[in-house]
Amino acid sequence: MNPQRQEFPSEELLEWYDMHKRDLPWRRSSDPYAIWVSEIMLQQTRVDTVIPYFYRFLERFPTVCSLAEAPLDDLFKIWEGLGYYRRAVNMKKAAQTVCDELEGRFPTSSHQLQELSGIGPYTSAAIASIAFQEPAAAVDGNVIRVMTRYYGIESDIRKTKTQKEVRDAAGEAISNERPGAFNQALMDLGSGICTPSSPECGACPLSVGCAAFQQVKTDTIPYKSPGKKVPHHEIGVGVIQDHSGALLIAKRPLNGLLGGLWEFPGGKKEPGETLEACVIRELQEELGCVVEPFQKIAVIDHAYSHFKITMHAYLCRLKTGEPQALQPDEIRWVNPDELDHFSFPKANKMLIRAILELG
Ligand code: ADE
Repeated sequence: MNPQRQEFPSEELLEWYDMHKRDLPWRRSSDPYAIWVSEIMLQQTRVDTVIPYFYRFLERFPTVCSLAEAPLDDLFKIWEGLGYYRRAVNMKKAAQTVCDELEGRFPTSSHQLQELSGIGPYTSAAIASIAFQEPAAAVDGNVIRVMTRYYGIESDIRKTKTQKEVRDAAGEAISNERPGAFNQALMDLGSGICTPSSPECGACPLSVGCAAFQQVKTDTIPYKSPGKKVPHHEIGVGVIQDHSGALLIAKRPLNGLLGGLWEFPGGKKEPGETLEACVIRELQEELGCVVEPFQKIAVIDHAYSHFKITMHAYLCRLKTGEPQALQPDEIRWVNPDELDHFSFPKANKMLIRAILELG
């Protein structure tokens, strides 16, 4: 125990949790597989969004071995709309490890869990504490906020040193008897009471000892220095339609960003290039054919984790050459009413809606 740090009121937090915890589907299970599924989904996605995906996922893949054996396309279809598709690829890999090498049983320590694809320090601590009662603190943005406020830590939370201080504080505070409940109590407190702006300190079980509350500093703690501006790209996309009305879609190479998902072909606009010229160049590079963009059908903004895009989509006709899968893994001509059988990333789903509205 750090002698300078006051004791954390873990008992008060757990009492509060017992009264106020959110009734979430994964909290009704003690199966490490279900808990793992929920924690991976919750890595980048809000609780309300995750709930229906969680049910559908477990219905379609009820056991870790059913997931290990599933075609990636089936998994993508269930994952469609959740974003960060690398998570789904890693889940299949981890499921194969558990099913093939560990007789279908999840490792029981946070240390061993981190050997599996897609499981880092936060997720391993969450799973090990909830499923196996290991006193490992799961520290994410919510917990950083609660801890920095409680202990009045004013240093920049982007700094590794501050993060370590918070991890140490959480590691000391965690209940040995109920570590899973403790971690989830901090998650609930951070998302419902100790919110970034206008926290409800009057309803907080920690307010008596909370430095930020006592010193009226919840507006300035936690402190996060301004980050780098995320880059923004203009993207030109071509929707090629043949005489029968079928549309050309392409499967992204498995190894890259959004790998294995389908899309309408296109790419980044070069400086000084028009959007139409970008579509012509991109489709020539990817498909080896020349197209004529003749009607702009959609402009779609979308934010990824590290950049933003504005997608400009054009209906195109083929001028010369037959499209071939030069860069994509595969291409297909599909009728608009069949598009739903394929998995597309979010911005492309929005484009499909615009295409279907054209009639
Ligand atoms: N966020 C990450 N894990 C969570 C959990 N188990 N309950 C609620 N929110 C979460």
